Amino acid sequence: MVIWITGLSASGKTTLGTNVDRELKKLGYRSRLIDGDEIRKGLCRDLGFSEADRKENIRRIAEVAKMFMNSELIPVCCFISPTRSIRELAKEIIGAEHFVEVFMDAPLEICENRDPKNLYKKARKGEIPDFTGIDAPYEAPENPDIVIHSDRLSVEESVKKVLEIIIPKLKS
Ligand code: ADX
Repeated sequence: MVIWITGLSASGKTTLGTNVDRELKKLGYRSRLIDGDEIRKGLCRDLGFSEADRKENIRRIAEVAKMFMNSELIPVCCFISPTRSIRELAKEIIGAEHFVEVFMDAPLEICENRDPKNLYKKARKGEIPDFTGIDAPYEAPENPDIVIHSDRLSVEESVKKVLEIIIPKLKS
């Protein structure tokens, strides 16, 4: 399977993904975190944040995730992947039966207050165009497999919720 974590910037995707990856390894599974910071510095460093570039970003990531999955790894992908059509593309590439969608459902105000990289502040000042949630859309998933309210749950609770759903799937 591929675990696909979507949500706004600063919604907690990487924190959740890192911890799910660690717990899976502790349980003896072979998993691999695939995260925006790594991908956008390497594989997708030629891409920006237009709709077309985001789509190409996600297309490449989904292809890589599929290759990992076919090598018996469990990719844990943490990307904003902001629109339904972009996530549909990832699902199509990976295969619907393998795609586990996790929605980090944190309100924009909370993400904006966290603002660990000061990106929301810059976006509000107009210094970063097309910033998701400010002047570029984020469409919440309609039917995610797992919803995490990262503003209400601790990291431990969030990881537990994800594992409770994916471990039985991995065993089946
Ligand atoms: S995605 O939309 O194509 O899925 P991705 O997850 O790879 O985005 O990258 C998001 C990260 O890039 C953010 O967490 C943030 O650090 C950075 N970033 C830079 N510019 C933007 C922007 N305009 N919109 C959103 N994130 C941006």
